[in-house]
Amino acid sequence: MNTLLIQQAKNMIDSKISSVGNLCNLFSLCFYTYDAINWIGLYICDDQKARCILGPFQGTPACTIIPYGKGVVGQCAINKATFTVDDVHQFPGHIACDSKSSSELVIPIIKNKKIYAILDIDSLKKHYFDPSLVKTFEAFSSLIVELLDNESNDKL
Ligand code: SME
Repeated sequence: MNTLLIQQAKNMIDSKISSVGNLCNLFSLCFYTYDAINWIGLYICDDQKARCILGPFQGTPACTIIPYGKGVVGQCAINKATFTVDDVHQFPGHIACDSKSSSELVIPIIKNKKIYAILDIDSLKKHYFDPSLVKTFEAFSSLIVELLDNESNDKL
């Protein structure tokens, strides 16, 4: 578990500004901390339309709309549980936004049983997301829950 990264992330959050700017900073921190991570960002869940919409991220341009059930992200929106894909080329229905991605981690952002978003992280290396890294990003995802929860109209 990378406690330094989590501490850096906490220190970085500026409560005066809206979640978009904070999320961009948090994703930048992770992107530049881990050389093998080539994409990290959020897909925002729209339960009514059963689809995930691209949100803030770091990495190459990505697909914008993922229906529930499709790809790794859409599966996570339905299962509402963290999972890793050790080799995306072996995952039926994987959506390749960046052809360099080899493994993937998805974590649902859930508060009071409502799913807000999917944290999606891609790696250049197969089998990259070991239990320690998963724990790190689960702790990281708790910061995102707090950010979304504290969102209000009086933020800059
Ligand atoms: N690979 C994902 C699509 C999103 S990109 O990785 C950023 C999927 O299969 O759902």
